[in-house]
Amino acid sequence: MSWKNTQSSFGMVTKILHWVLAIGVFVEFGLILYRDYFLEPKAALVPFLIGGVHKPLGVTLFFLACLAYAWRLRNTRPKFDTQMSALETRVAAVVHTSLYGYLICMPLTGWLMSSFSAKSVDMFGLFVMPAHLLEAQKETAEWFHACHHYLAYLGFALVFMHLAGIAKQTFLRQEAVVARMLPWEESPSRLRTVRSDLRSGVVIRETSRS
Ligand code: HEM
Ligand code: HEM
Repeated sequence: MSWKNTQSSFGMVTKILHWVLAIGVFVEFGLILYRDYFLEPKAALVPFLIGGVHKPLGVTLFFLACLAYAWRLRNTRPKFDTQMSALETRVAAVVHTSLYGYLICMPLTGWLMSSFSAKSVDMFGLFVMPAHLLEAQKETAEWFHACHHYLAYLGFALVFMHLAGIAKQTFLRQEAVVARMLPWEESPSRLRTVRSDLRSGVVIRETSRS
């Protein structure tokens, strides 16, 4: 398996970064939903969930997202499946690029919100991100909080469109699209061929001959 992308498949670096970022974003949302729906606003666990996990994980995701985007710019992009119409291909490309934008802007607005409130980010006890590089400004912090809040809705919409597109390809068109992103999947295009051969009866004829 190649580390780099090729014309027909994603490389290992893209795949690993994709899943770390995807799981990270789900964890970030999960922490907020847990805080908002399962904890008392003043519960002792809240500072740990936000300051101890949400913030340092978010800063880590920010750097990984920058790395993933830089890697994408320097790599070939595998072609989309041919069964997609020109419009679907265009929409998928726009959603993917927007997801990268989201993965960079979401943590950045959180980080700026914290910094303009003069709050540092303790990176899991390993080191502290430069605490007060920016002067505390209440209005600016509130503005970035609003951005962080509204970007969360945009993120829901983008992830929904991303997953809806994948579900359509997988269930309606019977394409092994998820396999394109699976790190242990060597040759997703072979999987797709086997499936379409099975549908047209080619594999069955070959099996009955032997
Ligand atoms: C991909 C990364 C991130 C995601 C998906 C994310 C998601 C969210 C969401 C959905 C909220 C609730 C927003 C609201 O309704 O007010 C929130 C709140 C918050 N986020 Fe993030 N966040 C990320 C990164 C960060 C980073 C890097 C920081 C700071 C260094 C941060 C700091 C905060 C704080 C302090 C709150 C609580 C605001 C409050 O309720 O007072 N976030 N985040
Ligand atoms: C269970 C959840 C997810 C699944 C099954 C999934 C699956 C996939 C697959 C199969 C592709 C490749 C599409 C193609 O064939 O070209 C892809 C691409 C992508 N996904 Fe996801 N994804 C998930 C969640 C997420 C999340 C939460 C994010 C970010 C917030 C995300 C961001 C991206 C991006 C940016 C790409 C484009 C990669 C590139 O072309 O460089 N995904 N995803």
